[in-house]
Amino acid sequence: MTQIFAHRGASREYPENTMLAFEAAYQQNADGIELDVQMTKDGILVVIHDETLDRTTNAAGWVKDYSYAELQHVDASYQFPQYAGQCQIPTLDQVFSWAKRKQSLFLNIELKNSVIEYPHLEKKVIHLIRQFQLENRVVLSSFNHYSLVEVHRLTDEIPTAILYREWLYEPWKYAKQLQSSGIHPHFTSLQKESIIRKAREENISVRAYTVNNLNVMEQLFRWNIPGIITDIPKKALEVKKKVSS
Ligand code: G3P
Ligand code: MG
Repeated sequence: MTQIFAHRGASREYPENTMLAFEAAYQQNADGIELDVQMTKDGILVVIHDETLDRTTNAAGWVKDYSYAELQHVDASYQFPQYAGQCQIPTLDQVFSWAKRKQSLFLNIELKNSVIEYPHLEKKVIHLIRQFQLENRVVLSSFNHYSLVEVHRLTDEIPTAILYREWLYEPWKYAKQLQSSGIHPHFTSLQKESIIRKAREENISVRAYTVNNLNVMEQLFRWNIPGIITDIPKKALEVKKKVSS
């Protein structure tokens, strides 16, 4: 059965990467959430997609140039004014302490380090996962594949998945080379069912992003893809139900 990951939470309806969006995804029965991790000037792990604050918040500039104390005054509801004043940028610590109580929820944690190489990002994230004992329900993904190799240098108990948009040839082989147990392709680079099947034969899980088109969703469910990452988890569950009935 395909696992449904809410991309940045239920981000079509709520401000992305906020506790509101994550809680909504959980309430909507998503199997998991996807979230993006960056780092402040003082080394605090924060959950935000862009390297800058401009698109999603009422502030501007690089996340890396703000201290966590400064970021606490920033409102992350910029694109959803109806939620003004209700959305801070969460720390990874806050998301983990919330998720700890949601026993069945999976966390797809994207290390956002392909523009800025945050020092020791991998080590800090692994440390926090261990602190909250979440090893069994996380996957670390990144477009920076060197970072995933670094994760495996540090630990062999946390699974990783390679993110990519390109039409990689036999991506399951490449994933194995990196010790990754998952591939997270953009859905447009997943044109063939055989990729899912061959990956499965090699114990590699395919989870496509960001699947918001209902026809594409239906096709991927029919192909029995292990996971999809979507902005609309509620709708995805309806499509999944329709396909399996
Ligand atoms: O993890 C899947 C997806 O989130 C990757 O792209 O840019 O939405 O973080 P992006
Ligand atoms: Mg992401």
